[in-house]
Amino acid sequence: MITYRTQIAIIGSGPSGLLLGQLLNRAGIDNIIIDRVSKSYILSRVRAGVLEGSSVAMLDKAGVGTRIHKDGLLHGGFELAFSGRSERIDMQGLTGQSVMVYGQTEVTSDLMDAREADGALSIYDAEGAQPHDFDGHSPHVTFKKDSVSHRIDCDFIAGCDGYHGPCRKAIPTGALHTFEKHYPFGWLGILAEVPPVSHELIYANHSNGFALCSMRSAKRSRYYIQCTADDRVENWSDQLFWDELRRRLPEHFADAMVIGPSFEKSIALLRSFVAEPMRFGTMFLVGDAAHIVPPTGAKGLNLAVSDVHYLYEALLEHYNGKSPAGIDHYSQKALARVWKAVRFSWWFTTCMHRFPNTDAFDQRIQEAELDYLSKSTAAKTSVAENYVGLPY
Ligand code: FAD
Ligand code: DHB
Repeated sequence: MITYRTQIAIIGSGPSGLLLGQLLNRAGIDNIIIDRVSKSYILSRVRAGVLEGSSVAMLDKAGVGTRIHKDGLLHGGFELAFSGRSERIDMQGLTGQSVMVYGQTEVTSDLMDAREADGALSIYDAEGAQPHDFDGHSPHVTFKKDSVSHRIDCDFIAGCDGYHGPCRKAIPTGALHTFEKHYPFGWLGILAEVPPVSHELIYANHSNGFALCSMRSAKRSRYYIQCTADDRVENWSDQLFWDELRRRLPEHFADAMVIGPSFEKSIALLRSFVAEPMRFGTMFLVGDAAHIVPPTGAKGLNLAVSDVHYLYEALLEHYNGKSPAGIDHYSQKALARVWKAVRFSWWFTTCMHRFPNTDAFDQRIQEAELDYLSKSTAAKTSVAENYVGLPY
């Protein structure tokens, strides 16, 4: 058995684990990160693309903002398309804030590089990770690597291990309250080396379903269309995808669309999920381990970052201020922000998608909502302030 001793054992090397680790490194708080898969596998996952200003500030605080400010695309607004027309939500004008389009893969890569430069320990391909005694006096994590058993003794365990990870599952069921909502559709997404159809994102509601035009750079586009929950990527040739995407956009965008071969194509199912509380003894749940939002509104990654903010501040208070107050309040503070993003993501999803079996009444309500949104500055401001991110 190989043994280690650290202050914070972090399970999961996604954005939440890596960002927490990097902030702790800079504060001189020792930590070890372990992940089930390899570094290259993590860097091959295509996920979120939009960072709130507060998330960018957190990455700056972690010392990894250089490339974001150089290569990220600052967006001051986005388009809402419906009924053959489009309406711009002027985030900058309405809230004074903007968002940064910068891929999660790049965020992860920047954080991994910084961790490596600091010489902090990360262990990849760790099998069967399990948190232990987080309600007792000797919290520790066990796992196997290359058939050798490992044990990390620590003060605290950070469960940054995503929705399917072992941390939330290790909490006694009676101690957790979960809330869940499934949506009867998915998103089929592609990446293609073509210039984006517009310099800003377009969220479209069409009778065939939702569509989203996003990007990763001036030369790389990320596009999504709503599909059925049981659909498969094999059902969608590139040509079928482009035809359907263009059909769902107002004519002037469809006509301007540059198409080309996709180099990534995947389907994500949509759901909302929250587990309360986000702390159990000396173990914390962070990011997707505690909550999932449907991608409409781009809140998943940003919530992982705000959880890290609250946990980092709590750990600083524990180690420097010698006060348990931050730790005691972590769950309550994080959940207050989580639920508002869960609400916004649910609302935006409901507004922009076509639900199977929607009756005529519900359809008219959706149309009225979008029409109201397009005519009311108050309604647009509400959307804009949620989209740029509510304050920490
Ligand atoms: P994760 O990124 O999931 O990281 C968790 C890490 O824990 C992983 O590296 C995993 O390998 C590791 N882990 C799991 N089990 C174990 C174990 N047993 N032992 C050790 N390590 C373990 N959000 C958006 O805002 N917009 C999007 O377009 C978008 N698209 C998405 C597409 C997909 C397919 C998915 C799954 C998510 C998407 N999200 C999107 C959500 C966003 O990517 C997440 O909210 C974000 O990744 C959360 O970060 P995290 O670090 O909390 O979790
Ligand atoms: C992207 C994903 C989203 O869920 C979203 O709301 C905006 C952009 C993206 O992958 O670029």
